[in-house]
Amino acid sequence: MILYLGCNQARSARHHARIYGVAQGRTLSPMADEKKNDRAAWLQGPPAECSVPPENDATRWRLVLLGAPGVGKGTQADLLHERLHACHLSTGDVFRAATRSGCDPSPAMISALEYMRRGDLVPDETVWQMVRERAGCLRCGGGFLLDGFPRTLTQAEELHRAMLRENLALDAVVNYELPRQEIVARLSGRRVCEKCKAVYHVAHHPPKTKGVCDRCGGKLILREDDRPEAIAVRMEAYERSTAPLIKFYEALGLLVPIPATGTPEEICARTVIALQARTARARG
Ligand code: AP5
Repeated sequence: MILYLGCNQARSARHHARIYGVAQGRTLSPMADEKKNDRAAWLQGPPAECSVPPENDATRWRLVLLGAPGVGKGTQADLLHERLHACHLSTGDVFRAATRSGCDPSPAMISALEYMRRGDLVPDETVWQMVRERAGCLRCGGGFLLDGFPRTLTQAEELHRAMLRENLALDAVVNYELPRQEIVARLSGRRVCEKCKAVYHVAHHPPKTKGVCDRCGGKLILREDDRPEAIAVRMEAYERSTAPLIKFYEALGLLVPIPATGTPEEICARTVIALQARTARARG
């Protein structure tokens, strides 16, 4: 089963910022503008190489971002990427990239996209096949921020075993917490640019001109799985399949719970402080 994707448009325009500071030996140094990572190896699969491979740095973070659909994981992954420089690896982005790749998706990918449209989880076997094909990204010296994976206990166990085999370990699993009502409001108000995929919110982060992307002038649309009926399916799938991961990672001593209230910048600052505190505690 081949899930490689051709996706030249998948370049993320979100990896552009400069961030400063040093924390507990972890990388938080300024990032030069020329060092953007287009995540090609992740979004397109192994034949592709990132245009700017991340620097090999043993102190880079390997994190999982956990939380219900719409809690703000993607928003935080972008901000954390700026702070920690680890690569934002979203399984949802790989599936979405397949819809605009311009090449014929494999039968497995066509079936995965159908699950996604409905708001259902893509079967574990398909997801794991896709991640396994991109295992180089998990080994990458640049670290990673896994967003939307793992999403079931089976996926979490596969990831755990794969990392053990490679002599790697997660540094932490950040769990973003927010009441369901607020999550649904975030999802139903989300608008994405159909060209560059920039994310907006009609109330919290509106574009300058209604319906038009500030960044590229593209049209802003409602994601197909942000329709009310798909949101209900996604929330149910989260409760049934993903929420049990909280206990799984708690038992492994990796869980870092973070309230997802306030502005994205406040939540990001809260996350970085919690990660720094965790590292400091680990060092005694
Ligand atoms: P995926 O793309 O992973 O979607 P998700 O987990 O449902 O998460 P979202 O992208 O919807 O939300 P988010 O938490 O990133 O929130 P965001 O930052 O955008 O997966 C999509 C589908 O792919 C799945 O349903 C499934 O079918 C399939 N799939 C993917 N991975 C899979 C796997 N491992 N196994 C099986 N199936 C898989 O923010 C949401 C909105 O809120 C935005 O409008 C944003 O601007 C706004 N916002 C963010 N932060 C704040 C804030 N602090 N205050 C106010 N508004 C905010």
